[in-house]
Amino acid sequence: MPSDARRAHYLEALGIDEWVARRAPPAHPAAPAPAVPLPAEIKVPLGPIDAGAPDPGAAAGWERLREEVRTCTRCALHQTRTQAVLGVGNPEAQWMVIGEAPGAEEDRRGEPFVGRAGQLLDAMLRAIGLSRATNVYIANILKSRPPGNRDPKPEEVTACLPYLHRQIALVRPRLLLAVGRIAAQNLLQTDAPLARLRGQVHRFGEHNVPLVVTYHPAYLLRTPADKRKAWEDLQFARTVFAQGMNDEPNDGHRS
Ligand code: URA
Repeated sequence: MPSDARRAHYLEALGIDEWVARRAPPAHPAAPAPAVPLPAEIKVPLGPIDAGAPDPGAAAGWERLREEVRTCTRCALHQTRTQAVLGVGNPEAQWMVIGEAPGAEEDRRGEPFVGRAGQLLDAMLRAIGLSRATNVYIANILKSRPPGNRDPKPEEVTACLPYLHRQIALVRPRLLLAVGRIAAQNLLQTDAPLARLRGQVHRFGEHNVPLVVTYHPAYLLRTPADKRKAWEDLQFARTVFAQGMNDEPNDGHRS
């Protein structure tokens, strides 16, 4: 399928039949959001890294992380989960998507975003040329399913977040896309509402990785009228990513 037709197909899946491009963000925003520091405990060293070179320690790092998460008992959720769900996608992807926690289907299959919300997430990502099979990595704040899909408890987030920070350090993404309030608030250490967090370039961690916030696909399934705003967010994220590719000096994180 030609790319325009493919785009139209995925926009249709998002319930969008007409699209008017939004203004690009300023190249140098007047007041960039301060970077959210990683807690000292999880300041995983990232460099030195040659331009684009794979991190030779990454394979061992992934293996250790996978095993620690698989056998984790840091919070009570290990008693009710079927299995821990680490992440999926290309571990060297330039885009990383972060959601909330596994649901029933994810708990059963061991992969993030494989239920109805996951299908919509896949369609949203495909609309901007991303796919978990090739060029995006997807993870959650929590690795274990909260019973009944309730919101994560603070102590569960505290126990689990260091795993996500290690994943981010291993993937070394050039852009983080937080889907939903829980992911956005916990990554940015804020209680600001999602509406205030959308449409801005936040910065994450010691490498100031750009972070963009959008709606959770499960919310969009319940509130399809907001799919148009989610599409705006994706366009915004793509612009931020493209600007980062042009502007950013090679700071050793990833070129
Ligand atoms: N919702 C999430 O936030 N993550 C999943 O993996 C599935 C549903």
